[in-house]
Amino acid sequence: MDVRPARTDDRAALQPIVEHWVRGRVSGRVLPNEVAAIIGSVGSPQTWHALASDESTVLGVMGLTEPNPEVLPYVTTERPAQVVHAFVDPSWLGHGVGALLAGAIERRAVATRRSELLVRSGPRYELSGWPFWSARYGDPVTIEHADRGDTAVWRKVL
Ligand SMILES: CC(C)(COP(=O)(O)OP(=O)(O)OC[C@H]1O[C@@H](n2cnc3c(N)ncnc32)[C@H](O)[C@@H]1OP(=O)(O)O)[C@@H](O)C(=O)NCCC(=O)NCCS
Repeated sequence: MDVRPARTDDRAALQPIVEHWVRGRVSGRVLPNEVAAIIGSVGSPQTWHALASDESTVLGVMGLTEPNPEVLPYVTTERPAQVVHAFVDPSWLGHGVGALLAGAIERRAVATRRSELLVRSGPRYELSGWPFWSARYGDPVTIEHADRGDTAVWRKVL
């Protein structure tokens, strides 16, 4: 397994992985606008993405970007960043791909002098993503409750 910065020419290989996960919770249907926004940000200057692969097969992606307004209340240091777009090929779950990607994201954050990482994860990912972040960063700093379900935020000071 390898990890490297993602490029725009990785977008096509990531499309089916992102389409697998970015779906309406009730309908189960792909959310095309959200998928397009995620795929379109891969290789863009705004969001740095780590890409995991095995031989030439793309296994997953994870992004690092400026904090969104929703996480600003939970920032505690001068140079925060947000982790976004964590998606691993469903047939590779639980094989360390996410940990490999998170390690690359943390190294990139340190190398670019970021002082802390924030992760925000909504109800869609409560079963598929929350256990991963809690295993890596401990209990969430908050769980926001809303009609449409809960959203958790994790913080890792670097
Ligand atoms: C979240 C995600 C990126 C994690 O990637 P992964 O490759 O499955 O995770 P790893 O195999 O690297 O797991 C690392 C550690 O996290 C923990 N972990 C991961 N998934 C877990 C789960 N479902 N339940 C409990 N612990 C879990 C384990 O402690 C694991 O360590 P271990 O293998 O030594 O036990 C991946 O599961 C995924 O793409 N999920 C679907 C989309 C999603 O929810 N994304 C997050 C949006 S915020």
